[in-house]
Amino acid sequence: MTQNSIEKALAYYQMNYNHLHQELLALLRIPSVSAASDREPDIKKAAEFLVNKLDALGFKNSKAYPTSRHPIIYSEYITSPEKPTILLYGHYDVQPPDPLDQWETDPFEPQLRDDYLYARGASDMKGQIWATICALEAILQTSDLPVNIKFLIEGEEEIGSPSLDTFLEEHKSMLACDLVLNPDAGMLAPDKPTITYALRGLAYFELRLYGPAADLHSGAFGGVVDNPANILSKVIAGMHDEQGRVTLPGFYDAVRTISTEESNELSKLGMDEQFFKEIAHVPALAGEEGFTPVERVGARPTLDVNGLYAGYIEKGAKTIIPAYAMAKISTRLVPDQDPNDIHESLKKYLEKNVPETIRWELDLMSGAPAYITEVQAPGVEHFKAALKATWGVEPLKKREGGSIPVATAMKEILGVDSIITGFGLPDDQIHSPNERLHMPTHKKGIEALIRFFVSY
Ligand code: BES
Ligand code: MN
Repeated sequence: MTQNSIEKALAYYQMNYNHLHQELLALLRIPSVSAASDREPDIKKAAEFLVNKLDALGFKNSKAYPTSRHPIIYSEYITSPEKPTILLYGHYDVQPPDPLDQWETDPFEPQLRDDYLYARGASDMKGQIWATICALEAILQTSDLPVNIKFLIEGEEEIGSPSLDTFLEEHKSMLACDLVLNPDAGMLAPDKPTITYALRGLAYFELRLYGPAADLHSGAFGGVVDNPANILSKVIAGMHDEQGRVTLPGFYDAVRTISTEESNELSKLGMDEQFFKEIAHVPALAGEEGFTPVERVGARPTLDVNGLYAGYIEKGAKTIIPAYAMAKISTRLVPDQDPNDIHESLKKYLEKNVPETIRWELDLMSGAPAYITEVQAPGVEHFKAALKATWGVEPLKKREGGSIPVATAMKEILGVDSIITGFGLPDDQIHSPNERLHMPTHKKGIEALIRFFVSY
């Protein structure tokens, strides 16, 4: 029975590949950039697109719930109260496409080159949402779905999911489920299906430094008036020591260390120096002394400047002492660090290190603690079996350095663990120019999802 359902669903997917692919292209054409306020109509369009698609598949109660920023989509397909309920998570928002001049083709005009589909959001994560939709369409059109499905698809993941906690609190019973499947992480390689059991958290800051009331002549005032650009550079430089450790007071206090056993397991994943050098196209790696690359990304907290602005940045030279300097700074957190404590720690560091000549302001723009599953989520065995049947190898278990705030929120608010997975690859160039989706892996992902859903 199960085997038969799988074959029929796979055949449906093959036969209907064309319309499903065209619909994915249409979704990718919508520039649903959550960070850009002028993209609000596109955000709405993307939400409507998905609501309409789910309606067309026979899902019920599909709705885009308004929030203070971008709507959250809920939709359900309930077959029977006795069946297990799987909550599928997705985010239909995407990162800004900048820098635009580095894209080979328009970020919102998807293009297939070789095995890759290039577009902003192709891998992170419209392509992943689409994989779940394709698998469900294929099953619903050819046999019976042996589980209940609920979709929760938000539009604010890339800006830190600010409306999510409230939504989860307010809709606990609607969202009640046995497990969450979250395909917003990826796999290690096209032949290595992967389950992510830990994600780093995030505390993201904007730091603004103010000097003189307006830009001043750097000859007339250089030497007497302090320069916010100089000071910003100095305080940023002071945030790491020679060993690559973050110097903010108490930054490492709450860090949960990993066991030797776990460290040994991680070392087998092949995420070594060569792996990162090749993907990042860098001649050498950096980071905290005393830890391997896989540990530094998965199990150690870090601090990075994400953007900097100060003074004159146009062509040519202009001799000024700027009035203003700004940095966007993110910290990636591990269990059991608290984003609010990191905020306090950064404040303390600035109080100590910014001189009285400069006024400063610090905002915590988003914060989310790290996620780690200690218990095996129910359904993990089903999912592992589906991956194994599709790829013919045992899936890997990894820690992910990126963040997906919803995983922790769902654990804390709904009390459910997530299977964090996905069919994106490390070199998909997510958040970068020329983001892409590896189509052969995407298709295998759909096969694995079909196998998973019918396995109950
Ligand atoms: N899909 C990513 C998370 C991710 C990154 C998974 C790399 C696997 C590999 C997600 O969309 C993302 O980018 N999250 C943000 C969250 C933040 C804005 C709170 C991130 O990690 O920067
Ligand atoms: Mn992302």
